[in-house]
Amino acid sequence: MHIIAFLFTLLSVQPLISIHFKCSAQNTHKFNREDFPSDFIFGAGTSAYQVEGAVDEDGRSPSIWDTFTHQGKMSDKSTADVAADGYHKYKEDVKLMSDMGLEGYRFSISWSRLLPNGRGAINPKGLEYYNNLIDELVYNGIQPHVTVHHLDLPQILEDEYAGWLSPKIIDDFTAFADVCFREFGDRVSHWTTINEPNVMAIAGYDQGIWPPQRCSPGIPGVNCNTGNSSVEPYAVMHHVLLAHASAAKLYRDKYQEKQKGLIGLNLYAFSCAPMTNSIADAEATKRAMDFFTGWEMDPLVFGDYPEAMKKTVGSRMPSFTANESKLVQGSVDFIGINHYITFYVSDAPPKPTGVVDFNSDMSVQFSVFKNGELLSSPLPPFIPYNPSGLQSCLEYFKDYYGNLPIYVQENGYGSSYDENLNDTARIDYLTGYIGSTLNAIRNGSNVRGFLAWSFLDVFELLHGYKTRYGFIHVDFEGKELRRRPKLSALWFSNFLKGKGKDRKLKGRAIDGSFVGNFHSSQ
Ligand SMILES: *[C@@H]1O[C@H](CO)[C@@H](O)[C@H](O)[C@H]1NC(C)=O
Ligand SMILES: *[C@@H]1O[C@H](CO)[C@@H](O)[C@H](O)[C@H]1NC(C)=O
Ligand SMILES: *[C@@H]1O[C@H](CO)[C@@H](O)[C@H](O)[C@H]1NC(C)=O
Ligand SMILES: *[C@@H]1O[C@H](CO)[C@@H](O)[C@H](O)[C@H]1NC(C)=O
Repeated sequence: MHIIAFLFTLLSVQPLISIHFKCSAQNTHKFNREDFPSDFIFGAGTSAYQVEGAVDEDGRSPSIWDTFTHQGKMSDKSTADVAADGYHKYKEDVKLMSDMGLEGYRFSISWSRLLPNGRGAINPKGLEYYNNLIDELVYNGIQPHVTVHHLDLPQILEDEYAGWLSPKIIDDFTAFADVCFREFGDRVSHWTTINEPNVMAIAGYDQGIWPPQRCSPGIPGVNCNTGNSSVEPYAVMHHVLLAHASAAKLYRDKYQEKQKGLIGLNLYAFSCAPMTNSIADAEATKRAMDFFTGWEMDPLVFGDYPEAMKKTVGSRMPSFTANESKLVQGSVDFIGINHYITFYVSDAPPKPTGVVDFNSDMSVQFSVFKNGELLSSPLPPFIPYNPSGLQSCLEYFKDYYGNLPIYVQENGYGSSYDENLNDTARIDYLTGYIGSTLNAIRNGSNVRGFLAWSFLDVFELLHGYKTRYGFIHVDFEGKELRRRPKLSALWFSNFLKGKGKDRKLKGRAIDGSFVGNFHSSQ
């Protein structure tokens, strides 16, 4: 998934007098699997709500995303009631992963499938599903990279105490994580507690474009009458950090020694560059990084929010007690980043909305370039290609946060619904970003893995079925949801299996022998 659309709602589109040209370093494309450390993990991912379907089968209760989509809130009015039907097709899917040679698979656990009441009794069918999936992966030599929670909060907890807005979530999340560690941890090497808390807080509680759709009246483009964009995003991040830290402590105290896995937290990490070489734009760039990245990373690494943020947000920002700070600091073995975009930052207040919120606190203007040209709204749902942005992003973590181990947990290319199997643009995109990751490693970044988004086409959180990110094409219109590998699947497979030193495709034809027939096509 990606969040470009809501970020663009922040762009105040001002006519620029001059055209800005920004260039990214060309990647040479000359690398292969052996250039990466042998224990580096390459794979792809999905998330529970986006892939599983079977939303009211076998005892699963609704999540806040079911509520949202059933209210027709997606631009294409879609739901993930069926999605890619991963719940029933997991064996076929793991077989495809194995044929591709994926080394790792990132997926998440549906909280309301495992614990339909949000807490307490385990749903045996939910337990069985995840056990089967994990067994199938392990049997095929694919490392499970499990996200405990990927946005799909049980509706029952939202109804009971407003979910992430309440500190009550800390105990319930920890108990949910405990069930996951206890039941699945013997086979799971990498646990990520929560996906993209920074986006969850902003999209769900400032902009109100994602469930639970809370925001202050006055936020543009959204009809909000519940919520408070001035305080709620900050409260949500605070509870996320405490819930993560509590679960991580539990894992380390009770399971880690025996299960030998690692635990981390994910964030949406873009890279930023100043729009001009003015001091004001340089400061604005630092501010944007503090607000988007430091908000989550500073507490994890230093035990407190960034000074600049505390100063601006003041009493609307919760603070850590000394004990909480100690709990949060150092609570990650690794960081998972989802990277898609590079912003150019100007020191300009956003369009006044009359609401004091995350955006007015951050007070910058973001711009995006494509092929050297400034893009303006409304934008297509596709993200401009700027592979060197990933290296800058990784360098930032190295320079500011002590070079913690990092997994790139999402990066990928979204195309339109009618994309055919000849997805050369996705191959070019991933070649650039994987090359950029290699550049960062060569310059000392502690990157340990690259998990592309997404393994197969799924329900996308912003565009429903209008965009496709998968290596594997899913026929959403056919009853059978037929899977067919795209050219990128074969390309990635060849890369992983070390076939062909030159990553440049030599016009391989897409014909019957390739489609659905990996082995004979190599
Ligand atoms: C949001 O909360 C702040 C701080 O508690 C308060 O001053 C403000 O009036 C609230 N805004 C809305 C829209 O409720
Ligand atoms: C903080 O932690 C210490 C040591 O674990 C404990 O004795 C103390 O009661 C805690 N303080 C608070 C306010 O929770
Ligand atoms: C490599 O790392 C150094 C030190 O962190 C940094 O100053 C430099 O910009 C990096 N090089 C590139 C090409 O990003
Ligand atoms: C695939 O797409 C590329 C780029 O658009 C094109 O050059 C190539 O001819 C296409 N191949 C087939 C088999 O359609």
